[in-house]
Amino acid sequence: MAALKEPNDLDSVFFKSADAFFSGYSHLGLTYDDVTLATCYSEILPRDTQLHTRLADRLTLNIPMISSDMDTVTEARMAIAMALNGGLGVIHYNMPERQQLSEVSRVKNNVHGLIQDPIKVTADQLIGDVLTLIEKKRFAFSTFPVVDNHGKLLGLLSGHVVKPRYAKRRVADALTPRAQVHTVEKKDLGEDPIARADKFFTEHPGIHKLLVVDGDDQLHGLFTMSDIERINQERNAQFKPSRDAHFRLLCGAALSATRNAFGELDRNRILTHVGALVERGVDVVAVSTAHGYSKGVGDSVRMLREAFPTLPIIAGNVTSAAGVDYLADCGANAIKVGQGPGSICTTRIVAGVGIPQLTALYVASHAAQKKRVTILADGGITKSGDIVKALTLANAVICGGMFAGCPEAPGEVMEISGKLYKKFRGMGSLSAMKSGSAARYGHTPDPARKVAPEGVEALKELTNSVDRVLAQLIGGIQSGMGYLGAANLAQLREKARFIRVSPAGQREGEPHDVVELKTGN
Ligand code: XMP
Repeated sequence: MAALKEPNDLDSVFFKSADAFFSGYSHLGLTYDDVTLATCYSEILPRDTQLHTRLADRLTLNIPMISSDMDTVTEARMAIAMALNGGLGVIHYNMPERQQLSEVSRVKNNVHGLIQDPIKVTADQLIGDVLTLIEKKRFAFSTFPVVDNHGKLLGLLSGHVVKPRYAKRRVADALTPRAQVHTVEKKDLGEDPIARADKFFTEHPGIHKLLVVDGDDQLHGLFTMSDIERINQERNAQFKPSRDAHFRLLCGAALSATRNAFGELDRNRILTHVGALVERGVDVVAVSTAHGYSKGVGDSVRMLREAFPTLPIIAGNVTSAAGVDYLADCGANAIKVGQGPGSICTTRIVAGVGIPQLTALYVASHAAQKKRVTILADGGITKSGDIVKALTLANAVICGGMFAGCPEAPGEVMEISGKLYKKFRGMGSLSAMKSGSAARYGHTPDPARKVAPEGVEALKELTNSVDRVLAQLIGGIQSGMGYLGAANLAQLREKARFIRVSPAGQREGEPHDVVELKTGN
């Protein structure tokens, strides 16, 4: 058996390490379909592979997948789904700053062990007011603690009575009175509040809420049985949700390098907004532009690093070693690599600029290692095999198109000739730039000025939920790692051996000479 593990000299003539392979192709830009990976001796079963990735000191994901900060891809619902699966969603910035703050709050407040600041109502409100609140804030729950003006608990408004037929009734007339509400004193929660709440729900069949109060009956929090059950399930899942130290889901937010009326970076506005994001618990901010190796992006990153020394910062996009060096020196932790590979991008057509993605990743990964920063492969992913190839060089991938057809992506579903679609547009498309993203492409949103769009508006067929899409992609990544004998992503990088494929080789790798009944999905 041992002989099987010995490297064979003949293999190394054909199947090259990243350094040997990409230096040999320094005259040619390569992308995912141009190469394939060689198999290695393996004792690793795909299901046993680990996918966690550390992107910055305070930012580790349990799967190396990020949903793109595009206005047709990531708002709170997508970010929640990504984080629950162990990844990350970065909320786009084509919305008023206040709305971006509330999107981040929705993610951070999604599932807690203890909801420390539950939404409350007062006794003098009408049920109709509560219904309006639920609709306006898009709450997914309808049971609320009722408190007086000093935060003292008066009762619980149960979801059973928050119905339009009771709209004219006062909360005071419909609430479950204080004496019948189940509570626990904060000081009695002990070391493991989740276990305490879990025991309570087991001992009280039919009760789904437990309120936390202090000795003066001031409300301090709320446990719900569904949250506790989800947390218990998570403890057994292979890829746990990405959470912060307070057990809240991770969430990122994108920033644009906003300029003031004099064309200078609007320092006050940017710092105030990021301060508010940090207050809401944002885990990482992304300075997202098409040209990251530029003064405006560098200045923004430097300013943020100075003001928020420990906040993880993503910046981009670049496709050169010098671009990585520059953003790393400015203080970025993770650098987005990709100019023009995206499914809706036209940068290479319009501007004649950009580097095929795998070559760009190789060059960037070299620089990143030296600067001790991480890189994110942004754009161009169309199948799980692309992700495996990307992860031989990058620390995580960013996907737009792969998630844009999911029900969790923003936007309405539309029916065309009996098929269901969602809108998907480049952030450099004319309509997205009008909604605010012009700065990302170095333009002003002024309608009187001519701008050249660098992205298209398109449709994506409605796909499965994020859970199902990610399950497929993760299955593919794990298969790839099994073929390479890689137990984790560091081993994947170390063991990857590349070979260029010819056009005929590419065709050979796809289903051929059959009439396909079902696709792989
Ligand atoms: P995929 O292929 O995953 O790519 O859909 C998503 C990435 O594409 C970038 N992006 C753009 N690039 N013009 C561009 O040249 C655009 O209008 C545009 N919009 C998004 C972005 O990096 C995203 O993550």
